[in-house]
Amino acid sequence: SPSRGVPVTAAEFVVVANRLPVDRIITPDGEEIWRTSPGGLVAALEPMMRSVDGAWVGWAGQPDLDVPPFEADGIRLLPVRLSAQEVEEYYEGFSNDTIWPLYHDVIAPPQYHREWWEAYVTVNLRFAEAAAAAVAKGGTVWVHDYQLQLVPEMVRNLRPDITVGYFHHIPFPAHGLYAQLPWRDQVLRGLLGADVIGFQRAQDATNFLAAAKRRLGHETKATTIALPDGRTPLVKAFPISIDTTPYRELAQRPDIKARALEIREGLGNPKRILLGVDRLDYTKGIRHRIKAYGELLDQGRISVEDAAFIQVASPSRERVDAYMHLRDEVELAIGRINGDHDTLGHTAIRYLHQGFPREEMVAMYLAADVMLVTALRDGMNLVAKEYIATRADNRGVLVLSEFTGAADELRQAVRVNPHDIEGVKDAIMTAIEMPRHEQSKRMRSLRKRVLENDVSAWSRSFLTALEDAGARNRSGAS
Ligand code: G6P
Repeated sequence: SPSRGVPVTAAEFVVVANRLPVDRIITPDGEEIWRTSPGGLVAALEPMMRSVDGAWVGWAGQPDLDVPPFEADGIRLLPVRLSAQEVEEYYEGFSNDTIWPLYHDVIAPPQYHREWWEAYVTVNLRFAEAAAAAVAKGGTVWVHDYQLQLVPEMVRNLRPDITVGYFHHIPFPAHGLYAQLPWRDQVLRGLLGADVIGFQRAQDATNFLAAAKRRLGHETKATTIALPDGRTPLVKAFPISIDTTPYRELAQRPDIKARALEIREGLGNPKRILLGVDRLDYTKGIRHRIKAYGELLDQGRISVEDAAFIQVASPSRERVDAYMHLRDEVELAIGRINGDHDTLGHTAIRYLHQGFPREEMVAMYLAADVMLVTALRDGMNLVAKEYIATRADNRGVLVLSEFTGAADELRQAVRVNPHDIEGVKDAIMTAIEMPRHEQSKRMRSLRKRVLENDVSAWSRSFLTALEDAGARNRSGAS
């Protein structure tokens, strides 16, 4: 648990992200606890942060909370305060009801509100000021994700002596969509404050370069942009990954292997277990996956004894309308399928609207014969990589949407277009029926890819590029 009152001294290296790596939670009996934050970002950065003398600027996950700087697990944390109105307008509004749907190819309609934009600017400035105050002379600030796209330019203006990196964890859309954003030029200028602007996929980097060229008229040369001030930011793909060590270790633990068997028994020992693990988000294609599975049952191509489906849908952004609607739709669809197909001994879909500790997730991965990742659009999707990391037995089949960043790397997965329900059904059948030797052949190659390209390789390659670009821009800038 965190120790309070650590004095703030200048840090060589400062991470800026919307969330701190831990969230403040108040239990029903009023007790304060700190819990690991949701999402892939924290999981990706935490291992690297433990090994450097750094600080982390972020929000503690609750409105109107004044938390002094503190240290947790060897990382110095600098909390940024958000008012209830800012949580509504900057976080739920502009970040998650404007940028999130727009950048995920308008799967849900983005809402454009000027008050939300004003709050986004105000809050981005607050994060930039906190980072500028924390970083040592000539130090480095690494800004993360779509909630903070204005911070690179803001922090550079406050501290021209430092190197600034930005990594974008979600997709960057094609210009035809990006152009909808009423503040499209301001956002591009914000991002161009960084020395390196990193994306998940080559296509995201290409989309950004095209937008910078078309909207701001900047010259682009391969992966760099020539700015009027003489700087030449690098724009490139750095596909993120996971720390594979805890997944590999947990997967070997006898108690967790036993738990995997217990999970199978608890489902009535079906021949196959299918698994989906997502935040409850409309980008994840949960409805499409459920529909495909339900039709396979309706058509008698499978029965609940053949294949049980566990869907973990962790609660997310629950006050945003699109998420409330999604929850209703998913729960209605699951209720109908279970009502039609459950027996007293077997359930079709075991739906869990809960988050689980990593130990339990690994037990589920070990129990799952088929992992379903059918996102309509996803920056990377680290669940796919977590599943692979646990499968030292070279068993199990990953069904993977073409529209994830992970699909660019994980070529040996069973690939699907999640919009094509017949295609998803066929992919599920292929996975269910895949012979062991073929599972093993594919899983070996997937494991090689994931184990060799883990999250430390990712952060090393980003930070090496950042060091080079920072030096180049310091000497080249006017
Ligand atoms: C995605 C985003 C992260 C975000 C996470 C959880 O992974 O890229 O920036 O933190 O989702 O969402 P939340 O809104 O709860 O932070």
